[in-house]
Amino acid sequence: MSRTHTRHRRSRTLFLAALATVLATTGGTALAVGDSPGGTAAAQAAAARVDNPYAGAKPYVNPEWSAKAAAEPGGDAIADQPTGVWLDRIAAIEGAGDSMGLRDHLDEALQQGAGVIQLVIYNLPGRDCAALASNGELGPTEIGKYQTDYIDPIAAILADAKYANLRIVTTVEIDSLPNLVTNTGGRPTATPQCDVMKANGNYVKGVGYALRKLGAVPNVYNYVDAGHHGWIGWDDNFAASAQVMHQAATADGGSVDNVHGFITNTANYSALKESNFKIGDTVNGRSVRESTWVDWNRSVDELSFAQSFRGQLVSTGFRSDIGMLIDTSRNGWGGAARPAGPGPTTDVNTYVEGGRNDRRIHIGNWCNQSGAGLGERPTTAPETGIDAYVWIKPPGESDGSSKEIPNDEGKGFDRMCDPTYEGNPRNGFNPSGALPDAPISGKWFSAQFQELLNNAYPAL
Ligand code: BGC
Repeated sequence: MSRTHTRHRRSRTLFLAALATVLATTGGTALAVGDSPGGTAAAQAAAARVDNPYAGAKPYVNPEWSAKAAAEPGGDAIADQPTGVWLDRIAAIEGAGDSMGLRDHLDEALQQGAGVIQLVIYNLPGRDCAALASNGELGPTEIGKYQTDYIDPIAAILADAKYANLRIVTTVEIDSLPNLVTNTGGRPTATPQCDVMKANGNYVKGVGYALRKLGAVPNVYNYVDAGHHGWIGWDDNFAASAQVMHQAATADGGSVDNVHGFITNTANYSALKESNFKIGDTVNGRSVRESTWVDWNRSVDELSFAQSFRGQLVSTGFRSDIGMLIDTSRNGWGGAARPAGPGPTTDVNTYVEGGRNDRRIHIGNWCNQSGAGLGERPTTAPETGIDAYVWIKPPGESDGSSKEIPNDEGKGFDRMCDPTYEGNPRNGFNPSGALPDAPISGKWFSAQFQELLNNAYPAL
């Protein structure tokens, strides 16, 4: 554990001591940070939650994923790891076909004696507006259906008293809010679908509704999706994204008290740590920020981004005790291609290219990345400000099909999943770096699972 980490824990202890004094002097009413005496229901629920839901809690292992992993050669090594349960359509609540529904997972969690379960809330109207691979079942205007047929039934199940001792981590609407910032308006990366979702406000309304409804359940811990450093790490997106998240959290009378934290890198491949160069490094007087790879980003890796974005969120109005999660399911970048040390100091580009752990062709690539490996195993409180490293994207499940495949889930064919594609403005017109022969998103992709095992970092 690092020195800074110890300092962080100490200040939390001091904070708790101060809170105890406040409680003693206010007759026991918990006051949330920045809240007024009397408080709201959301503030009281927030105060009743533990600081880190992962601390001291046995995580739930999804038996469906676990069985697929264990059936793969070498898969036993990770089959007992906790992964996210994706509620990616209305039918997933009851359980589509013979797959487990939400109650089945929660009951199984009780059976396992688990203390924490991780759910993914993922069914917004007009879902995945800058890509096609995870388009969903609800059209851009179907906000009413999202609320009554998706969020309400989930909230009702989670509120069942028999689950009251289970900490329920919800990661809320992957890839939605950052799209409103980076892929709209006059930007070269804008898409008509994202412009529609910005104009009709249904991402903001939907996320706001989900946070309010789920946040009313005292043992639910909401973590809002916050993209990754290769998406909102630039000056023109960083503060603006935090603002949209705040707008969503406070929409229609909502409160920041419903937000326990944020998650970065969900289902993405951004390296946790670039161990061979730092943001402050210079080569021949030129900053690494000037390199083609970093391209003026403020962060060179996911850990430093998650920590600095946490600070931005707090200064935008979120609670000062929010914690971050980082999805490390597939950002390991080990194996033979991992650099042994820093690149040559000929110039910033040789230095960064030779040293970077993230071996993607371009940081905007996101679909079934060739060469990727499993990242850090799920870990509680690994670094300052980070509640956990988590595996929300279940390793072995595809990001999207490499060619058009008819399906009844609303999933489209995105050429970013086609290995022969030459790119678009969102990946600087580079090849997609995707593996061939991939099934539609969410389906088992054995070849990718094998690559993830082989290129795991830390190695298995
Ligand atoms: C898909 C979901 C799937 C999830 C986890 C997403 O890309 O759209 O259907 O459940 O990945 O694999």
